[in-house]
Amino acid sequence: MKIMAIDDEPGILRMYGRHFKKLNYEVALAESGAKALELLATERMDLLILDQAMPEMDGMETFAQIKKRFANPPPVIMATAHGSLHLAVEFMKSGGSDFVQKPLDMEILVIKIERAVRNAEAEAEVERKLRRAEAELSEARQLSAISRIAASIAHEVRQPLVAADLALSEAGAAEARGYVRNALQIIRTMMRIYRGKPNDAPVPTDVNREIEDALSLFAHKSGNVEIRRDFSPNAVVSTSGNLSRVFINLISNALAAMNGTGRLYLGTRGGESHVVVTVEDSGPGIPPENIPYIFEPDFTTKKIGEGTGLGLWMVRRELDACGGSITVESEPDKFARFVVTVPRDPSKHGNGHEKGPQHRGQIV
Ligand SMILES: Nc1ncnc2c1ncn2[C@@H]1O[C@H](COP(=O)(O)OP(=O)(O)OP(=O)(O)O)[C@@H](O)[C@H]1O
Ligand SMILES: [Mg+2]
Repeated sequence: MKIMAIDDEPGILRMYGRHFKKLNYEVALAESGAKALELLATERMDLLILDQAMPEMDGMETFAQIKKRFANPPPVIMATAHGSLHLAVEFMKSGGSDFVQKPLDMEILVIKIERAVRNAEAEAEVERKLRRAEAELSEARQLSAISRIAASIAHEVRQPLVAADLALSEAGAAEARGYVRNALQIIRTMMRIYRGKPNDAPVPTDVNREIEDALSLFAHKSGNVEIRRDFSPNAVVSTSGNLSRVFINLISNALAAMNGTGRLYLGTRGGESHVVVTVEDSGPGIPPENIPYIFEPDFTTKKIGEGTGLGLWMVRRELDACGGSITVESEPDKFARFVVTVPRDPSKHGNGHEKGPQHRGQIV
């Protein structure tokens, strides 16, 4: 810890020097306010002890100059003459850390030094946290409503349109019409999602139906994939979110991974407080080293132009918003299994900013 003592009396400066060295503090001594400012410009100090009564620039003036010139000045303790309490009060009001009265009681001074340094560190930590939170917030804002909608629309609409393009160039109009219908269905879904305000009242939602809706978008793409539905009849939740969006992304990933052949298992289970949905495919699975990243925006192993890497990120956001959670398990070359848990009543499970009964976004 480095302390600078500022006092015009050489005897007092020497006394500070001796005393602080004994305590293993590093010490810098300044015989005037001007000298203190000069030293501060080149050396980082952890604390200043500043005499009030100095010729030319007194303690208050020196303190004012320090605040003016340095963005994050160290804590300052003022040494005032006995009886000048009003000055001490003024100093504290203007941002001083503490004061001591002369003649000095070194024991008290040391207690005050350590306390001031501790407080300054705690304040700096709060400041750092605040900055980090602000940075995160501004990042979140950058993904403003409009850009998110744009990203989602592009994401959802791209694939069927590319397929329609191909079909139109290669085959008959009937097939092309099927793809276009898919695109329209997606757009309808998107509109349903984005028309609503975030605090729309939750409505009863049949999870099995949401899965069927999602599946219907991929009828043309499932090829030889065997689809097994294992639906429990009471899979109803109350939500203002759009769960089909979650299942669209999970099913799309599963089908892409299986590349036309394999088994897709879709199961729902209605528990007392939650509905649990399993989406499992018999594709190549996810390498363990990728698992920590798959929910991050922009993470994709697909070729450029084939995947945006936003799918699972959106899944997690959607689930966060309705108090749900998702976990993933995979065995390479055997399966990838995503398990989604949605509360039946979101009002009992917060808005996604607290932990639900399953760890939200937990990766198994
Ligand atoms: N069922 C799955 N089997 C194997 N890998 C998967 C599966 N689901 C996701 N992944 C892996 O996670 C990555 C991220 O998935 P995500 O849905 O976020 O983006 P994407 O599918 O690559 O792109 P997009 O969804 O924009 O088309 C995928 O690129 C893939 O590597
Ligand atoms: Mg995807």
